[in-house]
Amino acid sequence: MHASATAHPNVALIKYWGKRDEADNLPAVGSISVTLGALTTETTVKFDDSLEHDVLILNGQEQAAEHPRLAACMNRLRRLGNEQRFATVTSKNDFPTAAGLASSASGYAALVTAAAAAIGLDASDPRLLDIARVGSGSAPRSMFGGFVLLQNDDQGTVCEQILRPADWPLVVVVAVTTDAQKSITSRVGMERSRLTSDYYDAWVESHATDMQQALEYIRHKDFFSLAELAECNCLKMHSVMMTTRPPLLYWLPETLACMRKVVELRAEGLPVFFTVDAGPQVKAICLPTSANAVADALRAIPGVRRIIISDLGEGARQIMQ
Ligand code: PMV
Repeated sequence: MHASATAHPNVALIKYWGKRDEADNLPAVGSISVTLGALTTETTVKFDDSLEHDVLILNGQEQAAEHPRLAACMNRLRRLGNEQRFATVTSKNDFPTAAGLASSASGYAALVTAAAAAIGLDASDPRLLDIARVGSGSAPRSMFGGFVLLQNDDQGTVCEQILRPADWPLVVVVAVTTDAQKSITSRVGMERSRLTSDYYDAWVESHATDMQQALEYIRHKDFFSLAELAECNCLKMHSVMMTTRPPLLYWLPETLACMRKVVELRAEGLPVFFTVDAGPQVKAICLPTSANAVADALRAIPGVRRIIISDLGEGARQIMQ
């Protein structure tokens, strides 16, 4: 009664920020992401009748604070698979946790995939996507590779692949500006934004147009139109964050320096654009031909600790161990 799975984090080109339902963790808006093949979470789920509750061990340390989210997912999986036993979930990331690299997305995608395999559920059951979403709003996107669309519908959300990695093989250059964990989680920050930012309603209202346009640009592989739109969508989200009370200031000086460099490179003709999530890391999305030049330019910025160059990756999948 154990199985292992691997999943990659994803980065949204069109972001979600805010919930329309907290209990089911339903996003206020849709989102479009790419899956990052170079960063990996590996998770083993082992059901065990001697346990009295689920246990999560992440990078060798037990995570008691994560228990409510873990239990919410595991209870739903148990109901679906008619399983009574609790489980030990052992997970490791080969990249910084909770620092704006979507570790919770890859974490919950890998967890759901491994647990489903351990209790014999069909990996393509769409209910697994909803269970992943209960763990992390962006986790259903890590269930797929390449370009991924997550949309609201009447029932909840629908998640699907738009393009496979090989269809449009973009490269993501990640500039890591700190390994420290963020102080305010996305979940807490989003709710605070909904309640206090004057820009929140405008963000939600203008979002559908961004989604539609992005889908069109992705289908036509129109890099420069997507670049301008994605940067603007990212900055709209950060405008909501910054106008939250008290403010959510996720950027470091190095974050802004990287963003400015990316804009400068694009003005010089290089196919690259930035995006930044609820953390200080900068992700520069580029065509493969410009990846090395972008990586060199970002590496040269004082305070940038590390550069990770990632191809687009595959979705969550079971692995044999
Ligand atoms: O994955 P969550 O629910 O913790 O929130 C992700 C929020 C952003 O990364 C800021 C935006 C996004 O769409 O990924």
